Amino acid sequence: MVKGIRKWPVVQLEMVNAAKKVCNFSNKTNISLGRKYIKSPIKYIKKNKALYDLLGVRPGSSVFEIGPGVGYFLYICKEFGGCYVRAIDSRQIPGKNILYDQNSIYDSTLKELSIFDKVDTQCVQPAKKVSFYNKKYNYIVAIGGSFIRNWTIKDHKFFIKNCRNNLLLGGKILLQFNGDKVNSKIENFYKRISFHSGEQCLYIIHKDIDGV
Ligand SMILES: C[S@@+](CC[C@H](N)C(=O)[O-])C[C@H]1O[C@@H](n2cnc3c(N)ncnc32)[C@H](O)[C@@H]1O
Repeated sequence: MVKGIRKWPVVQLEMVNAAKKVCNFSNKTNISLGRKYIKSPIKYIKKNKALYDLLGVRPGSSVFEIGPGVGYFLYICKEFGGCYVRAIDSRQIPGKNILYDQNSIYDSTLKELSIFDKVDTQCVQPAKKVSFYNKKYNYIVAIGGSFIRNWTIKDHKFFIKNCRNNLLLGGKILLQFNGDKVNSKIENFYKRISFHSGEQCLYIIHKDIDGV
């Protein structure tokens, strides 16, 4: 168990309370995107904490997250880990070219957790460089990434190179994909590049942590 800057039960309770507040509001609307994250917050908070521990985030380090959703991982890094955090999210309704609105469950929860300003709108696309805002990070993370759907190996290579160029020495990349989005060719590609890099980058494909 990684030791945090603030007490874990307190940080967890803050996330649960934020989820409850947004849940109460969104129950009066027909917003469904992201509802599961606030309906059963403990399940998703635990998943993100498990990934935080697995990654071995060093308190006080820097973290860049792609697709934070309601922001549990980002909040854990900021409040429990005392990390510098920054994230990007497409803020798009899946399968549509429409941005979700400010009352979305994702943005409302980020606001409730006071981390809305840590998340810029940016859509990760194949063969297109991600902007890391001219900064390098100790950790680059994408959890439950649906953005890789239909990516070729070439697209994955481009993405990894792009991330690597924005990692600090000894940094780590954590990618948690879901099984249905990763075929065996892609899995083998990640197996090949895992754990043997001179730059001590680490790639993890986690298919068995439910949550997306
Ligand atoms: C299913 S949620 C996962 C949330 C969170 N990472 C978790 O696992 O608890 C996926 C998130 O990725 C974002 N996303 C999807 N496609 C994206 C893209 N191409 N670029 C950036 N963010 C994207 C979505 O808007 C959403 O916030």
